[in-house]
Formats: sequence, C-alpha cells, structure tokens
Amino acid sequence: MSFLKHIKPSIVKLEAYTVKSIPLSSELIKLNQNENPFDLPEYLKREIAEEFLLQPWNRYPDVFPSRLIEALSEYTGMPAESIIAANGSNELMYTILMTIVSKGTKVLIPTPTFFLYEKIVNVLEGTLICVPANHDLLFDVESIIAVAKREQPSLIILNSPNSPTGQMISMNDVERIITETDAIVLVDEAYIEFADHPSVLPLLKQYDRLIILRTFSKAFSLAGLRIGYLLAQPAVCSELLKPKIPFTVNNFSSAAAVKLMHKKELILERILYIKTQKDYLYRELSGINDIKVFSSQTNFLIFQVKNNVKLLFEKLFAANVLIRDVSSYPMLENTLRVNAGTEAENKSFLTALKKYL
Ligand SMILES: Cc1ncc(COP(=O)(O)O)c(C=O)c1O
Repeated sequence: MSFLKHIKPSIVKLEAYTVKSIPLSSELIKLNQNENPFDLPEYLKREIAEEFLLQPWNRYPDVFPSRLIEALSEYTGMPAESIIAANGSNELMYTILMTIVSKGTKVLIPTPTFFLYEKIVNVLEGTLICVPANHDLLFDVESIIAVAKREQPSLIILNSPNSPTGQMISMNDVERIITETDAIVLVDEAYIEFADHPSVLPLLKQYDRLIILRTFSKAFSLAGLRIGYLLAQPAVCSELLKPKIPFTVNNFSSAAAVKLMHKKELILERILYIKTQKDYLYRELSGINDIKVFSSQTNFLIFQVKNNVKLLFEKLFAANVLIRDVSSYPMLENTLRVNAGTEAENKSFLTALKKYL
C-alpha cells in the first residue's frame, strides 16, 4: 500500500512550488522575483555581522522578537501588542489562514493575485471564492462587495498593490469592504513602499476586522534574511499568536531589520531610484509596437505580447535575462512580468526584448 493513502487528498492534489532555482552569476540579469536590485552596503553588513558575533548562539532567541517589535512599533507608530513578526510574511499568511480557515470556510480573493493565498486555502480545505478583476485589471470593488454579501466569506484577502497586476485598491474602498461585509479583511501590503497612495494603516484604529501584512523582502532589500510582520488590533494579535510557530525570527535577521529601520534615508533613496526605473521601463515598453503594458504601483510591471510568450521568455533567458512568465494566471494570457532592476539591467532587458520580439 502506498504511503500516499495517508497524505491528505488536499495536499496530493497540489502542485509543487515551481520557482526555478537558478544559480546567481554576474552575467544573469535577474528581474523575476520582484526583489530589490541593491544588496546592503558592505559596511552595514559588517556592522550587523559584528553585532551578531556578540550574541550567544547556543541560546534560543526571544520567542517573539522583542527588539524587532520595539523597532517596528517606532517605525509604524503602532503599539507593540499590535505587531507580530515572523520569518517572512509568507509564514504569517499561513498563521493567519490557520487561525481562520478550516474545512469549507469561505475565503474571497480578487483574481489574478499572489498564488500563495489559493494554495494555503487549498491546504486547509477551505472554499475559495474568486472575483475577477475588471478588463483593465483594476479591483472590481462593486463585485467584491456583492459577492461577499451573497457568499458571506470569513476572510477577504486583498493584495494591495497587487501582484502580479500592480494595481492598488484605495483606502476608501477597503473601508467600504470592511463596513459593507462581515469578513475579516487581510490587506497584504508587500509592495506598499513603492505605491503613490497611502497604506490602509489609519483604518486599524477603528476596525478589528482588518489585518495588514508587510515584508522586508522588497523595499528593505532583505529577501534572503526572511522578515515579515503583521499589524492588527491587540485582541486579534492574541488569537493569531496562538497557532504561530515559536522562535521563527532568528537573532541575525532581527538585528538586520532593526538596523535597516534606522537607515531611513538609504531605504528612501533606493525606493525613489526603483520607482524612477519602473517609470522608465513603463515608458520604454509603451513605445514598443505589439506590447500592451499596464501601469503599476509596485516595483514591477506586467506586459502583454503578441508573440509566443513561452518562446520569448526562453529566448530572453538564453540571453541571461530572467523575467517571469505569468501567462498561466487567469486573465493574463501572453503576459510577462518584469521587476525594475538597476538602470544597466533594465537597459539590457529592453535591448534583449526588442531583439527577440
Ligand atoms: C504579494 C506578496 N506577498 C508576500 C510576498 C513574500 O513575502 P516574504 O518574502 O516576506 O515571505 C511576496 C513576494 O513575492 C508577494 O508578492
């Protein structure tokens, strides 16, 4: 008898995570994971490493990292009891969904969106309710509210700005969704630092059905060290902490995140650079015949091509330009995603793209 008979059917049905591990090299132009193109400056890395050397490695870190939470409290203006930090925001996504979703629990997501929401709902055997974006890939707020009123989901997940579409939902519309439905509303703000519009943070004071998710993987250049955090009212955090895996934030990553929150100028300078480069990519892509590019409130763009998208992706990759093929997402046929890199990387991408189109 196969071991498979003991594996939950909801897991057997899932597909494995498929981001290819591609060895980093100086020739590779890597614009596929919406990362920050800039590593930390060498002097900062050394400062963080030296601090880490002074810590005892044989001891557990804080069960919930108090220094990091303190720094996040100062950075966000929220009380410590409203903050939970973790080993990346993906971990918190699991924590939040584990807290809310059991077999048959309805979860509403606007689509297309970040793949992980659907995957966790499936792992937990929840029921997914998808509300497609409108034709310009904007959030269809009226439909989200109408469907939520009809279906009564326990959770609505809004990724704002959204991956992979780059579109944002306004604070006003998020407030409408909270007040006109009965659901907990999770707003994943992984890309908020690149947006021209504000975070929904001010709504937290008023609403206990709002949870905000943030990450250090994008604007803060820390994807490799894995730090994410959530913001919610203290009573909500108390519930979310119950199923949370303890000790997931290690001392090293925590020290790095604390250090970075004290380097606001460096972070802001990089955000500005990345936004300028994204605007440059947008203008250049708009000027190419046969490409339809979508505006974006993030550090990446999606664009639709007339060519065979898989072949184009492979040709770019063979030329050492790695972007993301998002053509299997709903509504995104023939679509590719590219994140803003350095100016030189973006120019190389555009040159290769024009050559292979
Ligand atoms: C929408 C969204 N949320 C969360 C994450 C990942 O966050 P983390 O690296 O903190 O786990 C990503 C990364 O690509 C993302 O696109």
